[in-house]
Amino acid sequence: MPTFFLLPLFSIFSIFSLTSAYSTTLSLSPTAVAPPLTANPWQKLNHLAAASSTRAHHLKHPKSNISAAKVPLFPRGYGGYSISLSFGTPPQTLSFIMDTGSSLVWFPCTQRYSCSSCSFVNVDPTNIPTFIPKSSSSSKIVGCRNPKCRWIFPSVQCRDCDNKNTTACNELCPPYIIQYGSGSTTGLLLSETLIFPEKSVDNFAVGCSVFSSRQPEGIAGFGRGPESLPVQMGLKRFSYCLVSHRFDDAPVSSDLILTIGGAAAAKGGPNYTPFRKNPNSSNPAFLDYYYVTLRKITVGGVNVKAPYKFLVADSAGNGGTIVDSGTTFTFMDDQVFELVAREFEKQVGGNYSRAMEVEKQSGLRPCFNVSGENTITLPQLTFHFKGGAEMNLPLADYFSFLEDSVICMTIVTAGNAGRGGVGPGPAIILGNYQQQNFYMEYDLENERLGFQQQLCK
Ligand SMILES: *[C@@H]1O[C@H](CO)[C@@H](O)[C@H](O)[C@H]1NC(C)=O
Ligand SMILES: *[C@@H]1O[C@H](CO)[C@@H](O)[C@H](O)[C@H]1NC(C)=O
Ligand SMILES: *[C@@H]1O[C@H](CO)[C@@H](O)[C@H](O)[C@H]1NC(C)=O
Ligand SMILES: *[C@@H]1O[C@H](CO)[C@@H](O)[C@H](O)[C@H]1NC(C)=O
Ligand SMILES: *[C@@H]1O[C@H](CO)[C@@H](O)[C@H](O)[C@H]1NC(C)=O
Repeated sequence: MPTFFLLPLFSIFSIFSLTSAYSTTLSLSPTAVAPPLTANPWQKLNHLAAASSTRAHHLKHPKSNISAAKVPLFPRGYGGYSISLSFGTPPQTLSFIMDTGSSLVWFPCTQRYSCSSCSFVNVDPTNIPTFIPKSSSSSKIVGCRNPKCRWIFPSVQCRDCDNKNTTACNELCPPYIIQYGSGSTTGLLLSETLIFPEKSVDNFAVGCSVFSSRQPEGIAGFGRGPESLPVQMGLKRFSYCLVSHRFDDAPVSSDLILTIGGAAAAKGGPNYTPFRKNPNSSNPAFLDYYYVTLRKITVGGVNVKAPYKFLVADSAGNGGTIVDSGTTFTFMDDQVFELVAREFEKQVGGNYSRAMEVEKQSGLRPCFNVSGENTITLPQLTFHFKGGAEMNLPLADYFSFLEDSVICMTIVTAGNAGRGGVGPGPAIILGNYQQQNFYMEYDLENERLGFQQQLCK
C-alpha cells in the first residue's frame, strides 16, 4: 500500500540511541549526508554484480539446491525501499518498490507508458524505464480463461469464450485498475519469466501497466494475495532489514532474502507474533495484508489504553494492525493517535517546549524545540504484540529532526477526529520508518512475523 509522505528534512543528524528503562536518549552529532541522487545507478550496478557472482557460483556448483535468493534492497527518497528484478527473454531489469501491503507485481510497460503527477517523487515522468514486451520472446498476455486471471478478478465473466463454445479462445483477461494509498495503476496481465541469478520462475503473472498516477516506479507486491511474489514463488519465508532513511538514494543496501526451501529459520533470533487472518473474507484488499495482534502501545512505560476495536480487526474486517513496507510513516487512526501524541506531550511537556509553528506547517505532531540541548531524552515507544513480543523502537524510528533544533514525531493520522467508531480498513499501519534497523521476517510457513532490532548497515 504505497503511501508516501514527503517532508522537508532540512538537516539530518546521525542518531545514536541508548535505551534505558523507560526512555531513550539520543546525542546530537551532525554528520555529512550523501547528496540525493536523482536516479539510482548504484542499485542496478549492485544487482548486476550480485547476479554475476551468484551465477558464477551456480555454474561451478550446478547440483547444489537453491534454498534462498538474496536481492539488494535500497532506501529511496520517495519514502519506500526498492529492489531490482529481471523479467523476460532476454532479461530486462527494472526497479520496484518492495511492498508488503499489496499483492500484484507490475512494471511500467511499453513505450507508451505514461505517469501523471509523478514529478512529486523526483522522477522525470518522460523518462521512466519501461518493460518492452515485444523484445521478450517469453511474454504472453494472460487470457480470460487462464486461472491467473481469477487471482485479480475472482468472478470474471468470459463472454466471448462462452459464446464461441470452444476451448481455444482469444479473449483477454480484462485490464486491471489498482488503487493504492496514494495513486493508482492500470494495465494488462502478462505471463513472463522472472529471473534470479540462481533460479527462474516461468509463467509468472506480472502486470504490464500502461498508465499510472503518483508512482515512482513499478511495485513488487509482497502481500498475501495469490498474485504476490512470495505466493507465486511458493516462498517459505522472506526477510529484510531496512537501512536508515538517512541513506536514501545513496549506494547503500541491505539484503531482502527470499527463502524457497532448505534450512529452517535460525533458532533463538527474533521475537515472533502470529499473523492474524482478517475475519471478513469478502473484501479482497483485507486478504492482502499482514495483520498482527497488537495488545497495547506504551509511551515511557505507560499504557495509552488504545481501545481493542482499533488494535484488532472486528468481524466486519474493520480496524486492526498491519505491517506494511510500502507505507513510510506509521499511520494511526485518530483516536489511537491522540492517545499516543497526548501521552508524549504530557510526559515531555516539562522538558522541552512545543514547536507549534512547525507543527502547523508540517502537519506532524508533537514537535519539540530542543535548541541548545546536547542530549535529548524522550519516552520509549513500545508496541506489545500477542505472544509477548515487544517492539522497542529506537528513538530515530519515531522522532526526526525537521529543522536544526526541532524534532517531530514521525507517526501520522488522517485528521478526522470525532468520527467515533472504527473506520473501514486497518486502524494502525506499521510503516517502514518504524521498521528501520529492524530485522523483519515474514514466516509464511509458520504464519508469524519475527522482528529483532539490529543495525542494518
Ligand atoms: C536437492 O533436493 C532434492 C529434493 O529435495 C534432494 O533429493 C537432493 O538430494 C538435493 N541435492 C543436494 C545436492 O542437496
Ligand atoms: C458446443 O459444444 C458441444 C460439445 O462439443 C456441442 O454438443 C454443442 O452442440 C455446441 N454448441 C454450439 C452452440 O455450437
Ligand atoms: C466485509 O467488507 C465489505 C467491504 O468492506 C463490507 O461491505 C461487508 O459488510 C463486510 N462484511 C461483514 C460481514 O461485515
Ligand atoms: C527554539 O527555541 C529557541 C531558544 O529558546 C528560539 O530562539 C527558537 O526560535 C526556537 N525555534 C523554534 C522553531 O521555535
Ligand atoms: C526530562 O528530563 C530529565 C532530565 O534530563 C530526565 O531525567 C527525564 O527522563 C525527562 N523526562 C522525560 C519524560 O523524558
